[in-house]
Amino acid sequence: MASKIVRSLLSRTVDLQKSLVRLQSTAAAAASSNTKPSTSPADIPTTFLADDLEIQTSTEEMRHPKPDPNQLVFGAHFADHMFEVEYHDERGWGKPLISPIHNLVMHPGAKVLHYAIQLFEGMKAYRGYDGKIRLFRPDLNMKRLLASAARISLPSFDPIQLQRCIERLVAVDHDWVPDSTSSTLYIRPTFIGTDPTLGVAHSRSALLFVITGPVGPYFPTGFKPVSLLADPAYVRASPGGCGAYKLGANYAPTIWVHAEAVQKHHCQQVLWLYGPDHELTEVGTMNLFVFWVNKSGKRELITPPLSTGIILPGVTRQSLLELAQGWGEFEVHERQVFMRDVIKALDEGRMLEMFGAGTACVVCPIEAIVYQGQRLEVPTMKTGAELTMRLHKTLTDIQFGRTPSDWTVVVNENY
Ligand SMILES: Cc1ncc(COP(=O)(O)O)c(C=O)c1O
Repeated sequence: MASKIVRSLLSRTVDLQKSLVRLQSTAAAAASSNTKPSTSPADIPTTFLADDLEIQTSTEEMRHPKPDPNQLVFGAHFADHMFEVEYHDERGWGKPLISPIHNLVMHPGAKVLHYAIQLFEGMKAYRGYDGKIRLFRPDLNMKRLLASAARISLPSFDPIQLQRCIERLVAVDHDWVPDSTSSTLYIRPTFIGTDPTLGVAHSRSALLFVITGPVGPYFPTGFKPVSLLADPAYVRASPGGCGAYKLGANYAPTIWVHAEAVQKHHCQQVLWLYGPDHELTEVGTMNLFVFWVNKSGKRELITPPLSTGIILPGVTRQSLLELAQGWGEFEVHERQVFMRDVIKALDEGRMLEMFGAGTACVVCPIEAIVYQGQRLEVPTMKTGAELTMRLHKTLTDIQFGRTPSDWTVVVNENY
């Protein structure tokens, strides 16, 4: 009898604690939301809670064989478990779940299938030199995810709750994080509008899910520079549009242009230009950096600014800017750069290095730009790619735990 009372008291205490966390998280979700404050009744959850996570682990027979770590193809292998949580306008957020990876079932009228109400993130878990698993600046991915969600009217939530759920997912599949300081576990949070009604309108229901899978090194045989097609006929994003958000809808139209670059121009990537002055914006799915001696004779690292609304706020971009600013050895600026500036710098021998930056590769050196019938040779590798390599080393040393940093979050593998 006494133990029954104690158990009941304990369970009420846990419930009370959860209500308190939910209240705090509701405030955090409201604070992080760009949308109008919710008018829903107080008992409709405006976030889900990592403490509510139900974890159903796969049986031995359900586990997938691990691929050969030396033959990893990006995006082709998936770990055994996934995370998911549902939302509905009338019921708010449901209970989060980690379970064996499975197909999704949805009505063929689901809005995501017709109007691309979808966003995603790309992040990684790194197995460090010390064997510990780390995430790199996951708070920035959570922040960008919520910004993307607000742009397509998907609901908000407390970002730390998703971060914690991702940590638990990585912990459940910890043996899928490659035991290597070049391969990683790629993490793909995805958020879709599942409302089963046609009509371009807000989706009243949504599904947030996360899948993961091991990926190999971007440059298995050392740095390989890329050549870029810069054709002003194609535009990735424009002011007032969605280029600053990580929406699936931004990517589908780039596939054909990429194929043109590869098949017709023998380039590896597209250099996205914008406007009549052929402003440089991004490289494929990477942010762009230019390192040159500027017109005043100063060494300067520049990257296009976020203020125009056509640049994705990359986690790597922000980190490289902060690192370079911290070194204080050359000027670092976020500002527009145009093709005529690049051509002039190349002609005058002031161009030092150009590179793309993103989670997949960290940095990717650029060796040539095919522009208006000309092939412009960029001396990145000829000058030894000194800055590109230094940034790569500095950042990967942090990601793999060689350099201690508060940019990393160690995953507790005991879920
Ligand atoms: C268009 C675009 N730009 C830049 C990036 C780089 O962003 P991050 O450094 O967060 O990977 C990505 C990749 O997510 C991208 O898709």
